[in-house]
Formats: sequence, C-alpha cells, structure tokens
Amino acid sequence: MSHKLEDITVPVRLSVAIGIVYNELITNSAKYVLSDNTGPREIDVILDERDDPPAVQLSVRDDGPGFPPAIVNRKQFGYGLTVVESLVSQHEGTLVVENTLGARVTVTLPLPQTR
Ligand SMILES: Nc1ncnc2c1ncn2[C@@H]1O[C@H](COP(=O)(O)OP(=O)(O)O)[C@@H](O)[C@H]1O
Ligand SMILES: [Mg+2]
Repeated sequence: MSHKLEDITVPVRLSVAIGIVYNELITNSAKYVLSDNTGPREIDVILDERDDPPAVQLSVRDDGPGFPPAIVNRKQFGYGLTVVESLVSQHEGTLVVENTLGARVTVTLPLPQTR
C-alpha cells in the first residue's frame, strides 16, 4: 500500500469528511483487492492540494477487479459510497468513480478562498 499524503491545512469540517472518505475507500480497496487473489495487488492513496480553484483532492486506487457497471453508472451505491457521496455533496465537492487498472475514486473538496 503506497501513501502520498501532502501536509495540508484544511478547516476541521473538511478534515472530518476527508477522514471518513479515506476510511470508506481504503476499506473497500482492501476488501475487493483481497477477495481476488490473482496477480499483483496494490492500493495507492494520494492526498494533495489543488489551486485554481483551491481544493483538496483525495484519490484512492487499486488494481483489483474494478467496479461493477451498476457502481460506475451510480445506480447502486452501497452504504460506504452513499456516505462518501453525501459528504461530498454537503461540501459541494465532486466525486469521480471509475475503472482504470482497477477501481479508482477521486474526491475533490473546495477549500475556502484565502483572502
Ligand atoms: N475498490 C473496489 N473494487 C471493486 N469493487 C468495489 C470497490 N469498492 C467498492 N466496490 C463495489 O461497490 C459496491 C458498493 O461499495 P460500498 O458503497 O462501499 O458498499 P459495501 O462496501 O458495503 O458493499 C461494493 O459492494 C462493490 O461491489
Ligand atoms: Mg464499503
């Protein structure tokens, strides 16, 4: 499991959301990666800051079997992704759920403008 976590300062309400989202996503990756034991298995977590507009971005990807179509089409989120979606919408962020090498979820939450 590789982590690339930048040292970012965010408002507490965002740090709470980021923590919950992080936990749901790595729990999913751990679960679905481990359920399929063929080939190399990796989980990558990247947390960084974006400018223009200012935002914090958390991305969790794995090289497991990938999401079933109902998830990619957002028709059938389970509890975890529903919680993620609701936190993202509460903070007016964006959620991207896609298959690349495996599953990848990218959450972007806007940061308050500094001045
Ligand atoms: N990393 C992943 N790789 C493959 N499928 C995934 C992954 N994460 C989630 N899924 C699929 O999306 C579904 C919904 O996930 P989630 O909303 O977290 O619910 P739960 O984990 O309780 O099943 C899972 O049941 C699984 O089918
Ligand atoms: Mg889950």
